[in-house]
Amino acid sequence: MMDPYITEWLNLAVRWVHMITGIAWIGASFYFVWLENHLERSNPREGLSGDLWAIHGGGIYHLEKYKLAPPQMPETLHWFKWEAYASFLSGITLLAVVYYLNAQLYLIAPGSDMSVATAIAISIGSLIAGWVVYTTLCDSPLGKTPVLLGLILFALLVLAAWGFSLIYSGRGAFIHVGAIIGTIMVGNVFRVIMPAQRALVGAIEAGREPDPALPAKGLLRSRHNNYFTLPVLFIMISNHFPSTYGHAYNWAILAVLSFLSILVRHYFNTRHETQKLAWAIPVAALGMITLAFVVAPQKAVQSDTQISFTQVQQVISQRCTVCHSATPTYTGFSVAPLGVMMDTPEQIQALAPLIQAQSIATQAMPLGNITQMSQQERDLLGEWIAKGALIE
Ligand code: HEC
Repeated sequence: MMDPYITEWLNLAVRWVHMITGIAWIGASFYFVWLENHLERSNPREGLSGDLWAIHGGGIYHLEKYKLAPPQMPETLHWFKWEAYASFLSGITLLAVVYYLNAQLYLIAPGSDMSVATAIAISIGSLIAGWVVYTTLCDSPLGKTPVLLGLILFALLVLAAWGFSLIYSGRGAFIHVGAIIGTIMVGNVFRVIMPAQRALVGAIEAGREPDPALPAKGLLRSRHNNYFTLPVLFIMISNHFPSTYGHAYNWAILAVLSFLSILVRHYFNTRHETQKLAWAIPVAALGMITLAFVVAPQKAVQSDTQISFTQVQQVISQRCTVCHSATPTYTGFSVAPLGVMMDTPEQIQALAPLIQAQSIATQAMPLGNITQMSQQERDLLGEWIAKGALIE
């Protein structure tokens, strides 16, 4: 086991890099979709498909898009690929730092007797399998019917989410769907979009007629990447939301949120040609509100039995304070996670709403149920909170 202090700093550094490169990648991707949608196409100069003017940071920019290529290739042509590669490398490293180094806590489903090695092997295998299945489907005749292909890909990813939810913790399941999507996205850049662009530039430089099939292939993959962005962003932040990953039907919640966000993305992709899909935004908002109601946790049934705080404190000290204490004893924790400490009655009382969210409404805590909290104990805490979380 690595020194927890070192893992924390490692986690920080890698997560920070992952966020920065991810913003650069998705930001560039959003920007180019925006450019494409805003090109002035009415009276383009000879050889252009459009141009536009923009102001940013106090400067005025004039951008022109060529139908194919300028008469002469410029000396410097900027490529966008390192933000994608760096996002992937930092993402995989982060997956290892958080989920492989502490697989018992974060990756493996609570109560499962799966070994760490098996869990990691499945993780790596699923990323490879995800890419292979995806790219095979895209290159098959299905690639010619993009809507059907899209539906099949969506269904397969939901299936993967469901499968992961059987063997992994909720957050482990979510992050693996995200990791499969991220791998597919970077695979698209590395194996399809970049080679297609290289072939295009090569052909132009050699004065050859470029193969028209290549850009079309790149375009399909690039579209997929575009529709993947919003679900993958949700998955990246999902571990803050136990009501989603901690729910018994977490895979279905992920499917619904992803579907709604793809709808929103679709509206933003098409709104310059048509406003017909403007309903997508209110529908997505309503969908999210409906989802929140449908998956809301059931209210604890209150009985007349009196619950003494001593009982509550006993449960907490057995199940929580190995980690949530000023002096944690659980290997791998040198300080209380997120500063959440439950050493005194006042601390426990103040945390009641968070305890409700993490251990009663969902079973997100104890992490990996490593301290084997029972359902009766959860019910006891739930009832104590429902009755006002009194400490005397
Ligand atoms: C094995 C260590 C461990 C045990 C045992 C544990 N937790 Fe946690 N807890 C964590 C970690 C790590 C976090 C940091 C959040 C994260 O990584 O998601 C956390 C975060 C929390 C948070 C803050 C969540 C937030 O996002 O604000 C609450 C509340 C919480 N735990 C409650 C509990 C309760 C209640 C118990 C006992 C029933 C418990 N935990 C047992 C490790 C543990």
